[in-house]
Amino acid sequence: MRFDVLTIFPDMVNAHLSEGMLGRAVARGIIEAAVHNIRDFARGAHKTTDDRPFGGGDGMVMKPGPIHRALAAVERPAGPGQAILLSPQGETFNRTVAWELTRYDQLIFVCGRYEGIDERIRIADIDRELSIGDYVLSGGEVAAMAVMEAVARLVPGVLGGERSHLEDSFEEGLLEYPQYTRPRIFQGAAVPAVLLSGDHEKIRRWRRAESLKRTLERRPELLESAGLTPEDERILADLKKGTVEGES
Ligand code: ADE
Repeated sequence: MRFDVLTIFPDMVNAHLSEGMLGRAVARGIIEAAVHNIRDFARGAHKTTDDRPFGGGDGMVMKPGPIHRALAAVERPAGPGQAILLSPQGETFNRTVAWELTRYDQLIFVCGRYEGIDERIRIADIDRELSIGDYVLSGGEVAAMAVMEAVARLVPGVLGGERSHLEDSFEEGLLEYPQYTRPRIFQGAAVPAVLLSGDHEKIRRWRRAESLKRTLERRPELLESAGLTPEDERILADLKKGTVEGES
């Protein structure tokens, strides 16, 4: 998988690509990443990348030329790729979209700033427009970083244990159960006894019940599309009646 990011703030994105999970994936060659400064493709003495909107109004619009030239300069190794614009007008990014994006060999992220980019770029050069939520950020960089990180986690070999992402929140359609580590007692609060019992089947059942409980409390709509087993249905029925078994 290759990520290319077009931005006027390359340092911001380079920092993200050089630390943690993404940094390791890049160092190990599982993910290839290149960050392109849109300003390098701007012309004129001032190298401006933005201009006033035709028709008037507040704010500035990113000029089409620098983005178009930056996109044209991106290397395209063999294999399917997508040019993705990050904007609040895009389709909402979620795990289904993340899985769809793993089908591509190359993802090119175009980070807009200001009031957005010239519409002609969006129409001619962009394959997909994504938003990470219904709020407005100052630019697409943070959104591109979120999308890259979520997609990279699904690429085989990026996470240490091949199955780790399957246990993440959402990957089974449920929120994750609570986690504890040492010390056993922290500020008077003890780790649930079941986790210290060594009884793996009991621990599995407790975790499943906690996942279901959290999902029911916080995101009940997820339960409709989660693949629930008969055991899950029974636990949920008990939770709704308020009679779920404790952790002892
Ligand atoms: N750029 C500005 N706001 C954004 C958002 N919510 N998602 C993606 N890109 C953005």
